[in-house]
Amino acid sequence: MIKGWSKSDWRAKPRVQMPDYPDAAALNAAEAQLGKYPPLVFAGEARKLKKQLALAGEGRAFLLQGGDCAESFSEFSADNIRDTFRVMLQMAVVLTYGAKVPVIKVGRMAGQFAKPRSAPTEMIDGVELPSYRGDIIHRFEATVEARMPDPQRMLEAYTQAAASLNLLRAFSTGGFADIHRVHSWTLGFAEHDKAERYRELSNRISDALDFMNAAGVNADTAPSLSTVDFYTSHESLLLEYEEALCRVDSLTGQNVAGSGHMIWIGDRTRQPDGAHVEFARGVLNPIGLKCGPTTTADDLKVLMAKLNPQNEAGRLTLIARFGAGKVGENLPRLIKAVREEGANVVWSCDPMHGNTIKSSSGYKTRAFDSVLREVREFFAIHKSENTIPGGVHFEMTGKDVTECTGGLRAVTDEDLSDRYHTACDPRLNASQSLELAFLVSEELSSLRDAGRRIAL
Ligand code: PEP
Ligand code: CO
Repeated sequence: MIKGWSKSDWRAKPRVQMPDYPDAAALNAAEAQLGKYPPLVFAGEARKLKKQLALAGEGRAFLLQGGDCAESFSEFSADNIRDTFRVMLQMAVVLTYGAKVPVIKVGRMAGQFAKPRSAPTEMIDGVELPSYRGDIIHRFEATVEARMPDPQRMLEAYTQAAASLNLLRAFSTGGFADIHRVHSWTLGFAEHDKAERYRELSNRISDALDFMNAAGVNADTAPSLSTVDFYTSHESLLLEYEEALCRVDSLTGQNVAGSGHMIWIGDRTRQPDGAHVEFARGVLNPIGLKCGPTTTADDLKVLMAKLNPQNEAGRLTLIARFGAGKVGENLPRLIKAVREEGANVVWSCDPMHGNTIKSSSGYKTRAFDSVLREVREFFAIHKSENTIPGGVHFEMTGKDVTECTGGLRAVTDEDLSDRYHTACDPRLNASQSLELAFLVSEELSSLRDAGRRIAL
């Protein structure tokens, strides 16, 4: 327990990127209502994830974190959840095969509703409007009324998160994620080169399962073959929502963010003395911290001390998001800061947020090549620094969207308008996600060959 910390202390700190609700009474009522609802996750689950992340920090597991940039109320459906879940399972198979270590699956799901923005306003069809900050805050529609913050939306977000998590739990343990179904996860994907590679891999896994079955290892004797652990995560941005779902763990008396298993602090809200750091430091969950080109070594040291004063393994994941071509000038200086402090961290790579551009057709997009390049640079730096790449963090969907350009089934600038569905940043589609998983898997297996990962 952090002595003297309370879940509302953040209110006395400078806050950025949060809405000003016009009706204080309505806000209080929504918070009070949310405060009565059950938490979405439990302390024991957050602790279990922390233990697994501790292994990722040592190279004995690997973190795969992914999902929407922003979940939306309109795109909410069982099919969308299933498709993202399924592509993450596929990616995890590919990664496990390369890394030969367990892959920790964490969705940007069931709570990823609030968005920080670079500018307070945006121009839409010649009209200046407050920037869209996520469905938990206001409506996407391009009118001044729609963009007015409405606290009731926190309750709707909670309901959607609860229903999403319920489905994810059902998929995880109800048979869908049984490794014996490794072939069936391919269904629904169009034919392409990586789908074929995935099929070959599934054949090899099926062979291995047949062998194990003959040797007496099957779903009855080894239940872990038929279920997966799947965790949820989101940016801890809307602190009224986070506070209302923060609970005391009855076993230990510690505070737990009940809104998701892992929460992270974004690149725009990581001020060491700000409200977001103040909230996150007091909860027992694993915490992610985005690190960008403007993260200084001194700030990082202060943040590590604040967010992980006990230097607990698995508590803090540093999510590097510099942009392709910028990893070499930024990652080594932050690795040095971590080394100087002797801090326990998990290094994860977000190759999305440093690579957002405006396409010639006007859409916000990301070139798949830049995404791949940043991932390669991340691995190369860890190799030369003799440190451990512990995970990856992607904005992705299981749907066949056209939001990022490139990939094997090349999406062009002109294609972007075809199936551009994101409520915020452009996501990798299913095929691009799988392609990326193969790249990461190759990087991991080459590290393993070089004797740099400890097989379990
Ligand atoms: C995000 O992860 O959606 C995000 C806004 O990232 P960052 O804070 O790294 O820009
Ligand atoms: Co984003």
